[in-house]
Amino acid sequence: MNERLAIAIDGPAGAGKSTVAKLVAEKLSFLYIDTGAMYRALTFSALQQGVNLHDENAMRTLLDTLNIKLVNEKEVSKVLINQEDVTDKIRTNEVNQNVSLASSHQAVREEMVERQRELAKVGEVVLDGRDIGTHVLPNAQLKVFLTASVEERAQRRHEEQVKKGMPSDFEELKADIARRDQFDSTREVSPLRKAEDAEELDTTHLSIEEVVQAIIELAKARIS
Ligand code: DC
Repeated sequence: MNERLAIAIDGPAGAGKSTVAKLVAEKLSFLYIDTGAMYRALTFSALQQGVNLHDENAMRTLLDTLNIKLVNEKEVSKVLINQEDVTDKIRTNEVNQNVSLASSHQAVREEMVERQRELAKVGEVVLDGRDIGTHVLPNAQLKVFLTASVEERAQRRHEEQVKKGMPSDFEELKADIARRDQFDSTREVSPLRKAEDAEELDTTHLSIEEVVQAIIELAKARIS
């Protein structure tokens, strides 16, 4: 296996990227890097500290004070900001609703991309996000673009929330996903789009295991 193999998994909100990326990483013994969690961490801090999320400079200044750590443990991937465990705090509705705005600023993205490239340098990594194949790791050996219908993605999020015992409204989730799709794919800096050399996988009618298996096979084909 190529020592420096990097797998980039991009796609819209709720396409199953993080679940799939984590499992692919586990199966291949690669390091999983959740880039969305980094933008979420910044968003959470801004909300907590009352920083104006529209203010690009203020957001970048805030980011410079944050040491964001992604810690992979057996079942869970923890997220720490300056040593504080914020794993659950970055998944609230309030963060969901503000993260697209926080991640739309060029000054924020430049710093995040730099940090992500640094993390990926070790090789044998799986990164998931929106701009990994197009921008963060344009030379990744394997790029996958995961999609699924808005309905299906909302349904998955809904089931996740219910399972966690969290309040959930299907119609609200659907609207939120559609809004984030629109925002993430039309923003000026690094909009969400499929890299030309990415493999597109529509997961609407596939199980998690089927998606994971398909990616592992693609990865093996690239390696041999
Ligand atoms: O994958 P996620 O839902 O945790 O991502 C949260 C937000 O961060 C999403 O609305 C888009 C943004 N994001 C991004 O702009 N670039 C990335 N590489 C990852 C996430």
